[in-house]
Amino acid sequence: MVQAERCGVKTFDICPRACLLGRLGMKSFYITTAIDYVNGAPHLGHAYEKVLTDVVARFRRQMGDRVHFLTGADEHGQKVQASARKQGIPAQEYVDKTSAEFRALYDRLEVSYDDFIRTTEPRHKKVVRDVLQQLFDKGEIYQAEYRGFYSTRQEQFLQEKDRLPDGSWPEIFGEVTDIVEKNYFFRLKKYQDWLIEYLQSHEDFIFPRYRQKQVLEFLKEPLNDLCISRPKERLEWGIPLPFDESYVTYVWFDALLNYYSAVVDKGLWPADYNVIGKDILVPPHAVYWPIMLHACGLPPPKGLLVHGWWLQSGAKMSKSTGEAVNPLALVDQFGVDAFRYFLIREMNVGQDSEFTVEQFLVRYNSELANNLGNLVNRTLNMTTRFAGGVVPAVETKQELEQELATLWAKTRDEVVVLSEGFQFHTALERTMSFVTATNAYIEKRAPWKLGKSSEAADQALLRTSLATMAEALRLAVAAMQHVTPATTEKINAVLGYTPGSIWRDELNWGAKLAGAKVAPSLVLFPRPATK
Ligand code: MSP
Repeated sequence: MVQAERCGVKTFDICPRACLLGRLGMKSFYITTAIDYVNGAPHLGHAYEKVLTDVVARFRRQMGDRVHFLTGADEHGQKVQASARKQGIPAQEYVDKTSAEFRALYDRLEVSYDDFIRTTEPRHKKVVRDVLQQLFDKGEIYQAEYRGFYSTRQEQFLQEKDRLPDGSWPEIFGEVTDIVEKNYFFRLKKYQDWLIEYLQSHEDFIFPRYRQKQVLEFLKEPLNDLCISRPKERLEWGIPLPFDESYVTYVWFDALLNYYSAVVDKGLWPADYNVIGKDILVPPHAVYWPIMLHACGLPPPKGLLVHGWWLQSGAKMSKSTGEAVNPLALVDQFGVDAFRYFLIREMNVGQDSEFTVEQFLVRYNSELANNLGNLVNRTLNMTTRFAGGVVPAVETKQELEQELATLWAKTRDEVVVLSEGFQFHTALERTMSFVTATNAYIEKRAPWKLGKSSEAADQALLRTSLATMAEALRLAVAAMQHVTPATTEKINAVLGYTPGSIWRDELNWGAKLAGAKVAPSLVLFPRPATK
């Protein structure tokens, strides 16, 4: 094992785990979400990001990768300090409570994270302090006097260019104060050319690609060095600087390092993807983060996966709009998988989507309750009625069966390619089209008519149609497994089927269900009681 000393923390160039995985032919895949500010209740926007990342993580696991999935909570900073004071409780007590609320939501949403990091944990604080000390020792951090404007709401220093043409400050900055204080600065400017060069030579660093161009546009203006300290008299709730304990660390410098601190002893850096919303791309993730890592002698993450916003009446859903959708209300009424399905089906990763209950209901009713629900009902009912509840074997393959199998082969290939490219919404659309085609196949075959005939050929066709619809259903839900894992599991269970360990093999049309004993019925997506 080769150890390298970087930024004061031991990192492993070659770790035994990586070697073992390599020998087993498994690719390691490390993916992270943004860590939420826990100074309010989680809303649909937070939930979306964790579900999206979960869908990527589950898909990569299904494809055979050894996945490490990290999420967590951003627990320091002004906003948390202010919220805790408002409630009259210590900041730590406050974050213990709110963090648990976020985590419970992600558990409820079946987010299959491997690790949940909190920035108040000793393991994180240690790495942040080690990194800071190392950068300070290398001269990458220096002290200087700062004179200027400070936005408490955004926890950031402002410049003249941030003013509106009439001289006032934009609403987003809240109260802006005039301050003079000594602070510590990280030499960001020095790495501007390196970053431009890096982005130009790594065109796929940011998904979607057009966002990379926006970053390069931003970098046309000269960067300022980054103020990474806050004097304790103004902000106590943070990680003290190791070289000057009268200051705490700027919350972004602290928070970004979570992606690294969580795996410092696991040999997993660099991450394959940091998944984030578009509001935190520039400058934190696309500028500060790669430069911080580079200054430490570490590589940037391999990619940034940048999603858009859930909007309400055209504006970003947020806790301050007061109208943010509570994910639990939808989950309680419609179930976890309906919620996950909607988020992933509706949003084209990278773009914005308007959230409305009407649209939720349209998808729920037409795609889940009617289309998929119908196929499940028909398969179970007819297998019970015409075959004693046991899936028959295919006896005769005619044009209709052939057509459906051909459509499946195309759907399967598309689902894999689309999911690899984060086009999950289209993958679901293709899968639903296949379910529609299967329902249409049933209409055409009309097993209820074949069941009335005593002709041997009709009986053979009846058994074939039952086998075909059951197999088609099994395949469709296998293709949705990373989005609706519990539904896939339930449908497999009522089909009397236990899937094999290799997901790609599960996507091949075969006779896997012949002889399986099915359940008589399953209510999956009941009609909502009220609107
Ligand atoms: N704490 C920082 C992130 C630090 S990462 C080192 C933060 N927290 S946040 O709670 O404001 O946002 C967490 C994530 O939720 C961000 O990626 C953000 O883009 C996402 N969303 C918050 N509101 C959103 C929507 N309305 N829609 C989609 N995602 C949005 O920023």
